[in-house]
Amino acid sequence: MKGLILSGGRGTRLRPLTYTQAKQLVPVANKPVLFYGIEALCEAGIKDIGIIVGDTRDEIRKAVGDGSRWGVMVTYIEQDAPLGLAHAVKVAADFLQREPFVMYLGDNILKSGITSLVGEFQRKKPNALILLTEVPNPEIFGVAELKEGRVIRLVEKPKNPRSNLALVGVYMFDEHIFEAVDAIKPSWRNELEITDAIQYLIDSGKNVIPHMVTGWWKDTGKLEDILEANNLILSGIRRDIRGRIDGATKITGEVILEKGVEVTGGIIRGPVIIGENTQIVDSYIGPFTSIQKNCRIVKTEIENSIVLEGSDIQDVGGRIDESLIGREVKIRRGPANPLVYRFMVGDKSEIGLK
Ligand code: DAU
Repeated sequence: MKGLILSGGRGTRLRPLTYTQAKQLVPVANKPVLFYGIEALCEAGIKDIGIIVGDTRDEIRKAVGDGSRWGVMVTYIEQDAPLGLAHAVKVAADFLQREPFVMYLGDNILKSGITSLVGEFQRKKPNALILLTEVPNPEIFGVAELKEGRVIRLVEKPKNPRSNLALVGVYMFDEHIFEAVDAIKPSWRNELEITDAIQYLIDSGKNVIPHMVTGWWKDTGKLEDILEANNLILSGIRRDIRGRIDGATKITGEVILEKGVEVTGGIIRGPVIIGENTQIVDSYIGPFTSIQKNCRIVKTEIENSIVLEGSDIQDVGGRIDESLIGREVKIRRGPANPLVYRFMVGDKSEIGLK
């Protein structure tokens, strides 16, 4: 069985971060979201993986390489424009060679992985296996309608959803999907929707089986989802201290300090992960916070947040909460007089003031 990870697209809901970075490379607990997908496929024994890339191809290639780090073989597949998930299957046809495959959306994370699902697909040999989960806001997903346990209808982002069952971004297909992606027409958003291709399989009498996801699942396309995914992954970490902590620092809970981290004074309350060579001075780093490598945090309180590499945050009065701070960002206090805010902020940034 092969794997196909979709890592093209534009990431418009995560601007400004995605002006300079692929959305699939935004880190969750200091690891790019995309790596969770590669690891899930690898764990399920899938070693031949195609990655769909678009505008951010160079960055994705640089981060993932040839896959040897995970013991898998990665083939990059170019998609000229993000014309839809079913379009991605079309452009991957040469790579897939009509073999059964798992399609994994590169911005999705599933806690329980996919090993048992791949097993189920191989045992039952349906034409397609889809994953579903109950959500409070089905209108922003593909939505499934079931009757007596069978899928009867799938609609992409319906205005009036007929159920609360969202399609999770992992699908398994046999060769019949190629006929389906050729048969469908672009949707209202001008994309070839995989949801429509699966509906085509259902309409032509193919066996599409649904599987309810147990454990959590996150589509990390929006800020609050990234923070929640960060929170969920950090909830499962174990203490591992490789950095240096001085005697005046108080550390509680599950905390990972990578090599070269230096903490002087203050409090670190897990779950927290701090990346290589970051310095923390007289600060409070609160639960559910991931700070990447080469940052400097001085006299600052921060929790429920993600700070990307090379950022420098000093002397922030008040607590930073539920924030995603990009790479090499500088935040610091200005002189006491005059009392002004000074910003140099990129397009589409968001700043919350009290
Ligand atoms: O996350 C689950 C949802 O994913 C499903 O419920 C929907 O049915 C499905 O259509 C999809 O919806 P999104 O609107 O969230 O998909 P998005 O545009 O975010 O794309 C998902 C991934 O696929 C993302 O990593 C970008 C990549 N992609 C997307 C398109 C449209 C490509 O590689 N090529 C593309 O043409």
